[in-house]
Amino acid sequence: MSRKSRAVASPRVVSVMDLRPLARRRLPKAVFDYLDGGADGEVTLRENCRVFDDVTFRPRHAVAVPECDLRTRVLGFDVSFPALLAPVGYSRLMHPDGEAGAARAAGAAGTAYILSTLSGHRLEDVKAASSGPVCYQLYLMGGREASEAVIERARVAGCAALVVTIDTAVAGMRERDFRNGMKELMGDSVLAKIPFLPQVLSRPAWLAGFLLDGGLSKLSNVVIPGKGPMELIDVSAALAAAAVTWNDLRWIRNLWPGLIVIKGVLTADDARRAIDEGAAAIVVSNHGGRQLDGVPASLRALPEIVAAVNGRVEILMDGGIRRGADIIKAICLGARAVLCGRAYAYGLAAAGQAGVARAIQILRTDVERTLKLLGCPSIAMLDRSYIDVPATWG
Ligand SMILES: Cc1cc2nc3c(=O)[nH]c(=O)nc-3n(C[C@H](O)[C@H](O)[C@H](O)COP(=O)(O)O)c2cc1C
Repeated sequence: MSRKSRAVASPRVVSVMDLRPLARRRLPKAVFDYLDGGADGEVTLRENCRVFDDVTFRPRHAVAVPECDLRTRVLGFDVSFPALLAPVGYSRLMHPDGEAGAARAAGAAGTAYILSTLSGHRLEDVKAASSGPVCYQLYLMGGREASEAVIERARVAGCAALVVTIDTAVAGMRERDFRNGMKELMGDSVLAKIPFLPQVLSRPAWLAGFLLDGGLSKLSNVVIPGKGPMELIDVSAALAAAAVTWNDLRWIRNLWPGLIVIKGVLTADDARRAIDEGAAAIVVSNHGGRQLDGVPASLRALPEIVAAVNGRVEILMDGGIRRGADIIKAICLGARAVLCGRAYAYGLAAAGQAGVARAIQILRTDVERTLKLLGCPSIAMLDRSYIDVPATWG
């Protein structure tokens, strides 16, 4: 076992949330809060996790389940268990292993990785790092020409699907990022950085890794014609210039021959619209509580959307997944699979690729144990009969 794997082994790390304090200890405050935080009062961020407590299990006891089948087919590919890794921007700031390390861990565990537009590693390198499917998440950063180029690169590299995120008309108000000087730290002015530098200097191990990795990497998948890869800029500025509309989607569909996934659906209306626009799947998501605060928890929005979609396309969900039991509850409510964001990003920040592998391992064994305790032999057999939801959920 490598040093990094030992650092995240049991008993130090027993649940995914044990990775969070390790991440906090290794990262400068600005980077940890960027990963951990949400928008405004963080009501949706908290609710995403809390809402899983409202759903209770109805196990079938005295059933022997020696083997459980965790496999699921998502977007035409098989995954070894029903959780994919969500796009997490600026992963390379969390650890030099970054997007490539997370993708490698996903592939090794038999699942898929979704690469964010806000990536420090080139999409070709991320695709090559993983033995599993890699999807590309698209923001229209750098305008249509830059987007056209990256869509073509994703096609040539063999990305399994294009994931178009629709919930970022502008960046959410992530108050922690402002307080920590995220904008100043990522900007050009040395003078503006000075007040915020102590938090960086107090994390020498992170700083050494960051500097050895070449410092602030460029956004290597956003190549501006005539200028080259875009500088890594503050996330608010990046997202403000990257919004996608339904009109853009028609244009994207003409460029991308493969599957399109619409991420950020929270209502039946948007789900129907996504299907009309040709989506092969949707992700019920509130961006991990980082965009519009006060929207419902993703799990709470799921039943309305499952009813509206009525089996026409695959439904994925994300937001608040911290345990295998959460994954099972989402599937019982009609999701085909879930995406995990912070659950693996805490691991990445704590110990790079080894931390991501540990997060996936914990979730996977959780899922298997939960199935056995429920008396259910396979993911495919999960349905609402295995859970109770509050009467108000309908
Ligand atoms: C640090 C961080 C960065 C993120 N960056 C992106 C991104 O670039 N594109 C995107 O579509 N979603 C992004 N998300 C949202 C995730 O894809 C996902 O929807 C969310 O993390 C799910 O909630 P969870 O963290 O509770 O699992 C990001 C989330 C986090 C935590």
